[in-house]
Amino acid sequence: MSIETFCGMAPVIPVLTVDDAATAPDLAKALVAGGLPVLEVTLRTPAALDAVKAMVAAVPDAVVGVGTVMNPADMAASAVAGAKFAVSPGCTDAIVAASKAEGVPLLPGVATPSEAMRATEHGLEILKFFPAEQNGGAPVLRAWAAPLRRIRFCPTGGVSPSNAPDYLSLPNVVCVGGSWVAPKDAVAAGDWARIEALAREAAALPRG
Ligand code: 3PG
Repeated sequence: MSIETFCGMAPVIPVLTVDDAATAPDLAKALVAGGLPVLEVTLRTPAALDAVKAMVAAVPDAVVGVGTVMNPADMAASAVAGAKFAVSPGCTDAIVAASKAEGVPLLPGVATPSEAMRATEHGLEILKFFPAEQNGGAPVLRAWAAPLRRIRFCPTGGVSPSNAPDYLSLPNVVCVGGSWVAPKDAVAAGDWARIEALAREAAALPRG
């Protein structure tokens, strides 16, 4: 499946930083039950790849990808863990080549029109706008819609329930990414009901 398919499955991709892989299946189940099947597990903790494996094994309805993919070694490890897609803060030639070599579709980060244009030279037309709020937020994507007309975005970074509707109303936004649906304290407490409720609210956000 393609990045376009994954980004079309729900309005929000939860960005997850997992400290304990033992929590991963319940976390994924709660998010999927709330209506968010596409999950990004960031490679920021030693538990990340085990968390991906645990989610893939225990929650077949989840579409589990890996985030914070920085180099070809990260991409290879993600493929072995069973990641269906990869998200990167940036877009380098090496990461694009690794995505193609491993057969793991890439959602690369960009913050300027030139970076977005370079990504299209690699055939990538769905990109992460990162970090979205810090780079000007929805008004910037609105201004890019006409000149960068074939490119669509998943803004991520500083996105919250209050500003997500502004992004999701734009024609060049396919979905948003954000960590707010899985607060650290809720994960630590095993409060899966709260996470499912947050996911349900996020899944109900209107698009377009
Ligand atoms: C990140 O950098 O962790 C992601 O972009 C998510 O950002 P957020 O925590 O602001 O949603």
